[in-house]
Amino acid sequence: MSGIIWNKMKHDVKVKLLNEQHRKLFDILKELYNAMEDKSNKSALRVILNDLSLYIKQHLEAEEALLQKYAYPDLEEQREQHKLFIKKIEDFKNDFENNKFMLYFEMAIFLKNWIANHIEEIDKKYADFLNAKGIYQQHTELPFCRLVIK
Ligand SMILES: [Fe+2]
Ligand SMILES: [Fe+2]
Repeated sequence: MSGIIWNKMKHDVKVKLLNEQHRKLFDILKELYNAMEDKSNKSALRVILNDLSLYIKQHLEAEEALLQKYAYPDLEEQREQHKLFIKKIEDFKNDFENNKFMLYFEMAIFLKNWIANHIEEIDKKYADFLNAKGIYQQHTELPFCRLVIK
């Protein structure tokens, strides 16, 4: 198996913050492939699982918040799939504690499928919708922004 490279044609959701967050998932998948080469190093998989947990919480919250803010009509579909992802990560954590055989492969297949079925299909559907609301490639949701008047 090999990693996947972020590709503008396939993966661009046309919103800077969300593209950056999606690219982090590609990095995590790459880390997973690297870790596969040295399966005796169990701590590497623990680090990846922790990264994945943190990442997914941040990303799914940011994505849902933005879609909710602009009343995206297919938000429920997003929420349902996101819930399944979070559940899957919990399952992986349990499998890790139980030393499940072939967990690396199962995780890699799951992440590859998520990229193909969720990011490339479900997430890409909101690109034009958000752009029409003024949320663009350049947009980053800054937590605080102050105009400096001299
Ligand atoms: Fe999503
Ligand atoms: Fe996403």
